[in-house]
Parts: sequence; structure tokens; C-alpha cells
Amino acid sequence: MTGSEIQFPPQFLWGAATAAYQVEGAAAEDGRTPSIWDTFARVPGAVIGGHTGDVACDHYHRYAADVALMKELDLGAYRFSVSWPRVRPDAGPVNPAGLAFYDRLVDELLAHDVLPWLTLYHWDLPQALEDAGGWTNRDTAYRFVDYALAVHDALGDRVPAWTTLNEPWCSAFLGHTGGQHAPGRQEGANGLVAAHHLLLGHGLVVEELRKRGVGVDADRPGSGLGITLNFTVADPNDPSDPADVDAARRVDGLFNRVFLDPLFRGTYPADVVADTEGMPVPGRGSWTDAIHDGDLAVIGAPIDVLGVNYYNGNAVARGPHPDELASNENETGRTTSTPYVGCEDVVFVSRGLPRTAMDWEVQPEGLTRLLVRLHEEYGTPPLYITENGAAYDDVVAADGSVDDPERVAFIDAHLRAVHAAMEAGVDVRGFFQWSLLDNFEWAFGYTKRFGIVHVDYDTQVRTPKSSARFYSDVAASGRLGATDAR
Ligand code: FCB
Repeated sequence: MTGSEIQFPPQFLWGAATAAYQVEGAAAEDGRTPSIWDTFARVPGAVIGGHTGDVACDHYHRYAADVALMKELDLGAYRFSVSWPRVRPDAGPVNPAGLAFYDRLVDELLAHDVLPWLTLYHWDLPQALEDAGGWTNRDTAYRFVDYALAVHDALGDRVPAWTTLNEPWCSAFLGHTGGQHAPGRQEGANGLVAAHHLLLGHGLVVEELRKRGVGVDADRPGSGLGITLNFTVADPNDPSDPADVDAARRVDGLFNRVFLDPLFRGTYPADVVADTEGMPVPGRGSWTDAIHDGDLAVIGAPIDVLGVNYYNGNAVARGPHPDELASNENETGRTTSTPYVGCEDVVFVSRGLPRTAMDWEVQPEGLTRLLVRLHEEYGTPPLYITENGAAYDDVVAADGSVDDPERVAFIDAHLRAVHAAMEAGVDVRGFFQWSLLDNFEWAFGYTKRFGIVHVDYDTQVRTPKSSARFYSDVAASGRLGATDAR
């Protein structure tokens, strides 16, 4: 890989991200009760090796050392999520002992001059709410407001950046259509019902937090109210084949536009609705029956920030295809479904690009195209890359060090892709590496390592990898040096 020297603006925010269930551990401490991930991780075959988040990186107890490490790495911001079942166990009354953890964490971050970037929901719904229907029950959106206000009561005076949801695509469609993620349901178009209620919860929380004055603080780069979406860039495998073009349209619709259109245009995409509204949904005529008058106005309320999570795009074909990639499979052998509603005929095809340990293709130019599209087609507010990163099969050397040149090259290439979008006029204001630490990678358990810091799960020792040193230099200088072929 080659590249010239690049300088990011001085205000650009450099951070790293984690999520509560993936790092905290302390699953039954200080009153926390089970979330859907505690339950799902115990379903035979749901998670590789039967791994759970019970201990994870023990961040709950080691947060102070972890914050010191962030400072050592020159990070300006930490994106973390709050655990709903810690704060309102069983979705009941507020649990001061659970909330106190975030109080300590936020104070520690501020004491080290690291901006706290808070996500309210990174997939750990209290199991008690799932038992009442979870995200397919409209009431959950209102319970989300209760929970969000409790968190804001405690932390609103110190946290400037509020994200409602992380990747509602995963919650809705991996959770309710494909079954790869908790709660593991495989109920076709019910995933769209869940998506709608997630978006409604987002909109209701935006309304309430706005009333409380959350917004952009001119003196604090990185402040504001927003949502984080994950995106694909769906390219037809064979652009001259109408079946591939249509498959790519459907994947784009059911991954990107089903969230972008209600958030930024106040409507669901007509083609997605036409494709899906006739599909059966348990207990309803159609998923569109879940949309009540006024919902889209609530969902479409202006936000200050859009968080962009990008890992890769896909060449999409109507299958079968000999070069099909194994997408969304977790190697446990548990039977799952396509997360794309009604797209059983759609496959992702290898383009022969290098792949990470997740088998995801490395495609940085897709990120540039994505950012330009968000800006041009949706007129999005300031963008922050809230997740980007890669799993590789890291090797710990005899001296304990971890040299990860592939991850260094991945980070370098994606930062260049972000910068290219900025040069093209897109307002991108920050970048969060996924992840600060190796952690519980959902259905893959601890088998996939995304951290720039290695975690020894037996001893909980943290070792910054070469990529952490590389990223730290970029964060400190805002500069990417010229590179020769690596
Ligand atoms: C994203 C999730 C994050 C992590 C990365 C690899 O979809 O938001 O928790 O698992 O993928």
C-alpha cells in the first residue's frame, strides 16, 4: 500500500469504542439482571464455544486502568455503552448501584481529559422486556425512554455526546429475522416491526433529551445527539445482470435505506414496503400495521450527529454462485436464516479482495463512497465514524508483544478513505477504532480479536498491539505519514 502524507483538522476527534456486554463482565454484580445476550449465549450452538459475557474483559472492575491506558494512547474520546439491565434491572426501578458504575467511569474519563461518548443501547435489552415481546412490542420503545431519562438524570451534567442506538440493523434483523443474534428469533418480516419500534424509541428519546437541552455545545467538539447506523455498500456483482442489480437494490433497501429514509426523509422506502408488506407477521396483518400516525414525524426529528459504522461492502448476486461468501454464519452449526427479509435467493460473492479473520472483504474505497453518498443523497448532519476495525488472528510473541501489521494497514487505508471523503466535501469530524480491547465478539465469542489492545483472558493483562502504537501516533499528531508499499 502506498499513500502520501495526510493531515486531519486539529479539531478532529480520535477515539476508540467498546460496548457494555462485550467488555464489562460483572454480569450479576450490584443488582444487574440478565439481558437477552445473557440468555442467548446459553442457547446451545448460539455462541462459539458456549462463551458468555459473564467476565469478558472485567472492565467493570478495571475501568480506571483502562482509562489510564486510553490516555497513554492519546485518545481524545471513549465510546462506551450503558447496560440497561444494570441501570434498570428487569426493566424495573432505577438501580443506583448499577448507575454508579457509569458515574465513576465518566468521572475517570473527564479527569483524564477523554470525552465520554455514551451509547444508550448496544443490544443488551433486559430479558424481562423480551419476555413481554421485546422490540416487537411497541411498549418497549416507551420503556427505552424511561431508561434513557434515568441515565440522563445521572450523567447529563457531564456527558456531551448522546447516541440512542447502536446498529439497529443488527438488533432488528440479526435478532428477529436471521436469528444470529439475541434474541435469536427467525420471524421474517417481524424484523421490520422490531426495526420500526427501535426507530420509534430513538425518536422518542431524541424528543425528550432535546427538551432537556442536549445538543451541540460549540465549545465541545464531539457533542450532540445522534444515532449510530451500520452500513453496507451493495454493488451488483454483475452490473449487466438485472437479477444482480435487483438483489443489490433489495440489500441496500433492507440494510441502509430502511433506516436512512425514515430518519432523514420521514418515510420508509417505497420499494422496501412494496417488497415486504404482503409478508406474514405473527399476530399482525403486515409489518406496516406497526406504523402509527405521527410515528414518522417522531423518528425524523433532526439530530446533530450521525454515527457511521463501516466494516465492508458486498458484491451482491442472485444466487446460487460458485464464489459465494459465507456471510453471517458463526461456525457453530446452528441453523439461521438470511437477515434480509424475503431475500433467501440473495448471496454475497467474493471479489478476490483480501479478507479479515471474519471473512469480511477489505474494501476501504467503499467507505469513501458511502460517506459521499450519505452527504449527497441524505444531506446528513456531521458524520463521525463510530466503528471501523478488523479482526485478525493475532500472535503473541515470546516476549509478550503483539505485532499486527495487517491491522495497521487496515487502519491506515480506512483513515485515508475517510480523508478522501472529506476532501470531496463531506463533513466528517471524528473516528473511533473498533475496538479498544479484544472482547466478546457476539456469536463468535472470544475467538475473534478486534482490539488494538490485546487482552489475555486468563490474566486480564492488556498489551497494546503495534496497531495501538500506530493509532496513538495518528491521534497525537492528526497526521498519517507517507507510506511505501507494505
Ligand atoms: C459491530 C458491533 C460491534 C462489534 C463489531 C465488530 O457490528 O457494533 O459491537 O461487534 O461489529
